[in-house]
Amino acid sequence: MAELCVCSVLVTGANRGLGLGLVQHFLRLPNPPQWIFATCRDPNGQRAQELQNLASKHPNLVIIGLEVANPASIKAAAAKVGEHLGGSGLNLLINNAGIVKPNSLDNETPEDMIQVYTTNTVGPLLMGQLSCSKAAIINMSSIGGSIASSYGWELMQITSYRCSKAALNMLSRCQSLAYKEHGILCVALHPGWVQTDMGSYAGHTPPVTVDDSVQGMLKVLSSLSEKDTGAFLDWEGNVLPCLSMPTQCPLFQELQNLASKHPNIIIIPLEVSDPTSIKAAAAKVGEHLGGSGLNLLINNAGIAKPNSLDNETPEDMIQVYTTNTVGPLLMGQLSCSKAAIINMSSYAGSIEDMYVWDFGQIVSYRCSKAALNMLSRCQSLAYKEHGILCVALHPGWVQTDMGAGGSYKPPLTVEDSVQGMLKVLSSISEKETGAFLDWEGKVMP
Ligand SMILES: NC(=O)c1ccc[n+]([C@@H]2O[C@H](COP(=O)([O-])OP(=O)(O)OC[C@H]3O[C@@H](n4cnc5c(N)ncnc54)[C@H](OP(=O)(O)O)[C@@H]3O)[C@@H](O)[C@H]2O)c1
Repeated sequence: MAELCVCSVLVTGANRGLGLGLVQHFLRLPNPPQWIFATCRDPNGQRAQELQNLASKHPNLVIIGLEVANPASIKAAAAKVGEHLGGSGLNLLINNAGIVKPNSLDNETPEDMIQVYTTNTVGPLLMGQLSCSKAAIINMSSIGGSIASSYGWELMQITSYRCSKAALNMLSRCQSLAYKEHGILCVALHPGWVQTDMGSYAGHTPPVTVDDSVQGMLKVLSSLSEKDTGAFLDWEGNVLPCLSMPTQCPLFQELQNLASKHPNIIIIPLEVSDPTSIKAAAAKVGEHLGGSGLNLLINNAGIAKPNSLDNETPEDMIQVYTTNTVGPLLMGQLSCSKAAIINMSSYAGSIEDMYVWDFGQIVSYRCSKAALNMLSRCQSLAYKEHGILCVALHPGWVQTDMGAGGSYKPPLTVEDSVQGMLKVLSSISEKETGAFLDWEGKVMP
């Protein structure tokens, strides 16, 4: 085994679980790093006792306060790291801190969706934006964020966690592309199902010990090279499937003209980022339908921000995620019985293909759509027993305000895209539930 040799490493969430395990193993390396920055929320408190004991014996271990959900705390921690490193950059950043909420799909709330996303996805984005030159960024992801695998669904639905990790996988791909020219290697790593507070929270005993997981991950880290950048690997070095999905189209005042001619068109105000507005709209739909349920829900509303990875902000990350991912979650929770839910996703949310990266990095958009693809999978599993078919659909690159937002003319007209999608909808059956399809019916990666 090649021996891992780094001059400086920073680990977030280092006071317990895998973070603490990583710090202990770094200290034990034959060639330990010159600086190990162990960050945690409460460096002087009881929860950091073990780190404090270690720091009293190892002068290369520096404990720094860091709350990854707080941009000001991240900046303050970066300044402290800079004081120690002087001009030389950080070699290895391990975005390990993470949270989970034990919610089922139907109990999931906007607050929990945003809190988990802020910690598990926006935190790693901001940590990666720090100016200290990094040789590698490791994002601690989870196989629970693999849209392709539905790992552990029967034991835990944890949709906010799954969506945040699917989005984190997308962020890792974005970082790998944007930071390639600086020689920074970016990888998403699944540590296994490990015996930590998080791993054991649902009352099951996970199969992997912290020691085995950390040892495996360090072995994987020591063997990484340029060709692995952007990969999603597990603690044994296996490549994991990510998989992702499609886009949307906006609407106009033309609706009113249509409604004046067609009495079966009902215009209802609905702001998908506002739970109250969703409830009010659902009540109006209920008034029209009486006892009979809604047959088809198309979650089409969506936004995009033209940000690059380095300009991406927590505010834009949350706003886009709230509209593109949390909105469809809440719409899906409405009690009207649906026969099918179609989530308008985007090929740009495909972690495998990183479609049109060179035309626009749009990181917040890509992360939100990768998370939406995960939500579609969660919905397909949770609503299967009610016979509700759930599909993520990529409409193609279409001539809408969003599609034409850059300097290129999209190849597809709205007419062709919609005609294609309706044809796809008319042909899908039970076996397609959970799929990610495009407007021509092709299965997307
Ligand atoms: N254990 C597993 O089976 C498993 C499987 C797949 C992926 N993972 C991933 O591995 C990583 C570590 O998990 P773990 O099992 O070691 O979890 P854990 O035992 O629950 O520890 C989580 C760590 O993250 C810190 N943290 C949480 N929110 C934070 C915030 N806002 N700012 C700073 N630190 C924060 C916690 O600090 P406090 O002590 O202050 O709360 C703690 O140090 C996570 O990203 C998790 O998603 C774990």
